[in-house]
Amino acid sequence: MIPINSYTDCNVCHRRHFLRRATAGTATLFTVPGALAEALQRTPTDVEGPFYPDKLPLDTDNDLLLINDKLTPAVGAVTYLGGVVMDTKGNPLRNALVEIWQVDNQGIYLHSKAPDQDKRDHNFQSYGRFLTDSKGRYHFRTIRPPAYPGRTPHIHYAVTYHGKRILTTQLYVAGEKQNAKDFLYRRIGGGNPELQKLVTIPFKPLATSKLGELTARMDLVVGLTPADPGHPEG
Ligand SMILES: [Fe+2]
Repeated sequence: MIPINSYTDCNVCHRRHFLRRATAGTATLFTVPGALAEALQRTPTDVEGPFYPDKLPLDTDNDLLLINDKLTPAVGAVTYLGGVVMDTKGNPLRNALVEIWQVDNQGIYLHSKAPDQDKRDHNFQSYGRFLTDSKGRYHFRTIRPPAYPGRTPHIHYAVTYHGKRILTTQLYVAGEKQNAKDFLYRRIGGGNPELQKLVTIPFKPLATSKLGELTARMDLVVGLTPADPGHPEG
């Protein structure tokens, strides 16, 4: 288990900025009737893709760099990745299960049908999960994902709340030239750059690190309705 890191960036700030500029024409994007002035833009969805692990690794914690008590860490640009899961009013969701899965430093997934399994970095966990704390926070230690044939770098996300999958999406790395050409990136929010921005995340040097580690933050805004289990007003 890794400690909670301090994150300095705020992609909710982008959301608030976006909302201030939202016009009546975008009202259909929101899911909380009567609360538009306060509503946050929902994180756009993305496809799950074919490589959610068909067999979970022996270790499924939030440190993807180390598997159980092995001493050799995975290869790659170490990244502290975190954020907050919240509803569209900004209420943090506690005990939301955040799952991530991604390729190793050579672009190989952990999945029996993914190519090059024999070349996979067996020190990389490839998958991790974490239950958000009372402030809705999640955190992982992983590597900055590389590109692999046909895709720009990305990390897959799934959020499950009270037993129901409420979000499936992908994180993209800000500044990657391949983003604009990526067939899935281009589809996000129907190609809306403001929505693409919500999942396009800078990987910045961690100020306190002498080892060149990175930090990245993606907040996740999910659309709960009162009918959903766990909804604060349900
Ligand atoms: Fe993928």
